[in-house]
Amino acid sequence: MMIEKLESLITSIVKKLGFDTPNMRVIKSNRPDLCDYQCDDVFKLAKTYHKNPMEIGTSITDELLKIDDFDAYFKKVEFVKPGFINMTLSDTFINNNIKDIMHDEKLGIKKTNLVETYVMDYGGPNVAKPLHVGHMRTAIVGESIKRIIKYKGHKVISDIHLGDYGLQIGQVIYGIKEEGKSLSDIDINFLDYIYPKMSAICKEDADIKEKCATITKELQDGNEEYQALWKKILEVSCEDMRKIYDYLDVHFDYWYGESDAYPYLEETKNILDSHHLLQESEGALVVDVSHDDDKKELPPLLFQKSNGAYLYASTDLATIVERVKDFNPDHILYVVDNRQSLHFEQVFRTCDKADIIAYNKLEYLGYGTVNGEDGKPYKTRSGEAPKLQNLFDQAKEILLDKKEMSSNITTSDIDKIVNSILKFADLQNNRERDYIFDISKFSEVIGKTGPYILYTYLRIRKIIDNLSSINFDNLSNNIYNEYDRDLRLKILDLPQAFESAFNSRMPSFIAEYLYDLCVLTNAFYQNNHINNEEDLVKKNDWVNILNITSIIIKEMLSLLVIDTPKAM
Ligand code: ARG
Repeated sequence: MMIEKLESLITSIVKKLGFDTPNMRVIKSNRPDLCDYQCDDVFKLAKTYHKNPMEIGTSITDELLKIDDFDAYFKKVEFVKPGFINMTLSDTFINNNIKDIMHDEKLGIKKTNLVETYVMDYGGPNVAKPLHVGHMRTAIVGESIKRIIKYKGHKVISDIHLGDYGLQIGQVIYGIKEEGKSLSDIDINFLDYIYPKMSAICKEDADIKEKCATITKELQDGNEEYQALWKKILEVSCEDMRKIYDYLDVHFDYWYGESDAYPYLEETKNILDSHHLLQESEGALVVDVSHDDDKKELPPLLFQKSNGAYLYASTDLATIVERVKDFNPDHILYVVDNRQSLHFEQVFRTCDKADIIAYNKLEYLGYGTVNGEDGKPYKTRSGEAPKLQNLFDQAKEILLDKKEMSSNITTSDIDKIVNSILKFADLQNNRERDYIFDISKFSEVIGKTGPYILYTYLRIRKIIDNLSSINFDNLSNNIYNEYDRDLRLKILDLPQAFESAFNSRMPSFIAEYLYDLCVLTNAFYQNNHINNEEDLVKKNDWVNILNITSIIIKEMLSLLVIDTPKAM
């Protein structure tokens, strides 16, 4: 990576000057008007050696100015008070590094040399309920993080972890019996009708709710009739969900559910018991997960109710026992709503205490809520969370109304653009933050939107594809103007943007990068008239720059789960 080259150059000079230092860090300049990159570590060095940063900084800079191959790196190097080394890169250095990216199938992004196994838990829909807007974030964010980790070269196993054994199943089974229905009557229309009905009834009527809970418990205990109905509900519901996930291009290696953890509950209980972690509290079994230095009191984890029923935390623990056995993972990642952070803290601490898996191997990746204009969770006019399918339809409608849209666009391309609208709007946000759902804003072709990125991509592809006799993979050592230089520097930022996304599990770093890249690409394109350019070397260079830009856009979009259309 380019930054590493600068870092090792400066580090070697610092060592030559007699300082024993860890790697000197180089960062992107926060004053791009003054320089491209800067090194602030002079301060650290001054502190360690009790010296004046001015003195150290000046001597490092003087040495840098003296290196034989100065031009191979820099146009300008300057020491700036009180302790910064400012660097402006030479055209040769920029172009050599662009060539590295051009010739690397990973675009300069370093593959891991230690392949680890990740298990990812995202999606998590509850069977028998339709997928709504709330399920979109976990699906998109989870799929994107999965692709980013894979791109880094790790092994990822994804599990949807269905909520398939909870109260809603008891409610639906109760409804089936109440309405005199049987196995063969269960289809998606029936589920769409019965679940909301039963859910409303149970809110009003505690007796019925209790009956539904009993059915759920009997199901979990193996009641054969209920098991048969449950299997059918599962099958019908999953078939419907699969269509939505397919539309979103979100895929899971396993469609396991909470029910799959049941065979591991006994074993989990024994593990907790042998570590003396189970305590009785009002007839229930709980695990004390508090630490002495907790700032806020953490309530105990509820493992088993007094009636013997297991809970959300128990199945999550048992699932971890199962995953450790099946996959021996180095990391288990959960992409789940922010509101479940306490639950996961309890589960992770319990795992650690019971030596099931170390705390630092478990990561809770919370995400914020999709809100309406009023700042509250996004609802339809009638007050429910909108179904995902309806959001797709809405986006499609808005899209087809646009005058910019070509009239003979294919359905497959429309679907890709719809996907870009929803996904880019979501992934450009820091995942932990809430955002306001504004589908017409998200569909604009101008602005920080999916369509803007796709439009930029198609525009430059068109230029490249219409030109003949271009010598790809060939770049001279020139840079022709500021627009050109800015775009090339941005191309060089890619590995950093990727690493930030990977390390923090935040796809927003990639979305942000893509947007900036596209803004500079458009400025470049508007100010440099490639088609009419008579200087053939220049023309060739520019087309190569656009070509690598288009490859980066396509590749990074795929990490955001967005596919490029042929036209729009
Ligand atoms: N089904 C859960 C819900 O709807 C989400 C599951 C998340 N994953 C987990 N292992 N708990 O809230």
